[in-house]
Amino acid sequence: MLSFDDDLTTAPVSMRLRGETPETIHAPVPGGIVSPPLSSEPVHDLDTEQHALGNPLGRVRVEDKRVINGQADVNQLVPFKYRWAWDKYLAGCANHWMPQEINMQRDIELWKNPRGLTDDERLIVKRNLGFFVTADSLAANNIVLGTYRHITAPECRQYLLRQAFEEAIHTHAYQYIVESLGLDEAEIFNAYHEVQSIRDKDRFLLPFIETLTDPTFKTGTMEADQQLLKSLIVFSCIMEGLFFYVGFVQILAMGRQNKMTGASEQYQYILRDESMHCNFGIDLVNTIKMENPQLWTPQFRDDVRTLMKKGVELEYAYAEDTMPRGVLGLNAAMFKEYLRFIANRRCQQIGVDPLFDKADNPFPWMSEMIDLKKEKNFFETRVTEYQTGGALAWD
Ligand SMILES: [Fe+2]
Ligand SMILES: [Fe+2]
Repeated sequence: MLSFDDDLTTAPVSMRLRGETPETIHAPVPGGIVSPPLSSEPVHDLDTEQHALGNPLGRVRVEDKRVINGQADVNQLVPFKYRWAWDKYLAGCANHWMPQEINMQRDIELWKNPRGLTDDERLIVKRNLGFFVTADSLAANNIVLGTYRHITAPECRQYLLRQAFEEAIHTHAYQYIVESLGLDEAEIFNAYHEVQSIRDKDRFLLPFIETLTDPTFKTGTMEADQQLLKSLIVFSCIMEGLFFYVGFVQILAMGRQNKMTGASEQYQYILRDESMHCNFGIDLVNTIKMENPQLWTPQFRDDVRTLMKKGVELEYAYAEDTMPRGVLGLNAAMFKEYLRFIANRRCQQIGVDPLFDKADNPFPWMSEMIDLKKEKNFFETRVTEYQTGGALAWD
């Protein structure tokens, strides 16, 4: 989808990943200017606007609210129906953090010291950043240009607004690490074009992101609603819930060995946010299922399992590519087990049969990283700074 700020001679990211140019999609018009597709708003938005202006249904009633295809006014947050979404919004705000608060000095010294890290450890850092510097932009675009338009519960939209800002903070954090270490920006930011294992993951995601961001896509039919639900599952359970985890384990394992501790701290805060995003997405999927049980057919569940399986394969290929040899006490076989464990957990969370017979978690310490008590500590130690820093001066 093009915006008013886009240079019409420049192809959107999704097209460039597929090797397409704008001309292959939209025929040029006289004068050499490429004609963008005409935008049309989803049906429910038009209806909602009418409700907001003319108020044909009267005051908003809880029983009229729906996560998709709702007819209640989306401009009225209350009365609450989806309190779980509001609670996650509050929790996200309570965990607010900014990348510049984390001291990167030790990382800079370690990175600049020729004997500070092995080549394999440096490869892990660069591959990690290569994936994440663009992944969170894809996530942010998916939310603001796609998901948000199709969700008609204002509590869920409120969380999505918070989530979109968190994705911006994550992109900022990765950029901040790249800048702090003095890495080659072009190499890192182009990794999703140039590194096969990263490119493959992004290409897998693109059709699902494009479903949501396509300006002509509208919910309200069985086929469209299933497409939406599938894209939401891919986004929350595979992208945020699986594709991020090899990278998180690698950098956090470094931090546990007292290496790249600043980057590791950044990743820990990001992991905490992502864990919330994934859980929100799962709650969203399960609520849509509950409100629209006709979407959850045996064929649909089979399709979801096939996608999860493909996701595990792609993430395992990425693990092997980033870690050709054992390093930091980690090896590729451990990641195979870990990805199977996570995939089974995601399947169970959305109510489909697990994919793998037996899969244990080889990294039990990862759960400590998302521990709720730590969230509370984080909140207690940081919140005062925000209240002070954010105070208005009246003189
Ligand atoms: Fe993120
Ligand atoms: Fe996220």
